[in-house]
Amino acid sequence: MTLQLGVNIDHVATLRQARRATVPNPARAARVCLKAGADYIVIHLRRDERHINRKDVAQLCKKFPGKIHLECSVSPAMEKAALTYKPFSVCLVPEKPGEVTTTGGLKFTPVVIKRLEKLIKRLHQKKIIVSLFVSPVEADIRTAAQVGADIVELCTRDYSEATTAQAARKQLSLIKSASRTAARLGLEVHAGHGLDYQNVRAVAAVKEMACMNIGFSILAQSIFVGLPAAVRQMRELL
Ligand code: PXP
Repeated sequence: MTLQLGVNIDHVATLRQARRATVPNPARAARVCLKAGADYIVIHLRRDERHINRKDVAQLCKKFPGKIHLECSVSPAMEKAALTYKPFSVCLVPEKPGEVTTTGGLKFTPVVIKRLEKLIKRLHQKKIIVSLFVSPVEADIRTAAQVGADIVELCTRDYSEATTAQAARKQLSLIKSASRTAARLGLEVHAGHGLDYQNVRAVAAVKEMACMNIGFSILAQSIFVGLPAAVRQMRELL
């Protein structure tokens, strides 16, 4: 199985919104990333639309059918957006107002589980593949399978923020064991959050890993080497 790369282009829109301008255009960035070796494009429609907005989602889903992986929260407004724009796949993520970025995996409270079961059914009816962003914790992987997800995206935040080699090894072993459990339960395994050119290889080497979703580090590198080279350099590490 070839490891796929999903490039998150949220911060192309962050830059555009810094000036409330029309450039840089996320659709142009998506085309460049796909041409440079990205397998698909990741976008996060936040409730506050602070970077990617609904117009972007509509445009990207129309221009790149089969290539848009939409991240959104478990909420009626986001459900409506997903069902309207029909991306190829959706990743349901937790979202807290005011957070700088997603801070971890979904918390599976009874209320969230009920909402997920309903939402996943509706997304499946529209033939949208469903991923859940989860912490690399056995119980959460099992819950993801029970509620009907197709994919688990393992949150690599704790791994990428580990400050010692020993802490990173411990986080990596959690990712490995969560990946084994997920694969055993028939779930496809993705990973993302905080992955960069230094730390990506160890996660990419996990046997069950199918896709890596990476944004910030690629966009940061693109400032110095250009977007096509930044994508190619990441692709080469996978
Ligand atoms: N996957 C998910 C579910 C995310 O929320 C994010 C951050 O938006 C990413 C992957 C990408 O993380 P980063 O931008 O740190 O590479």
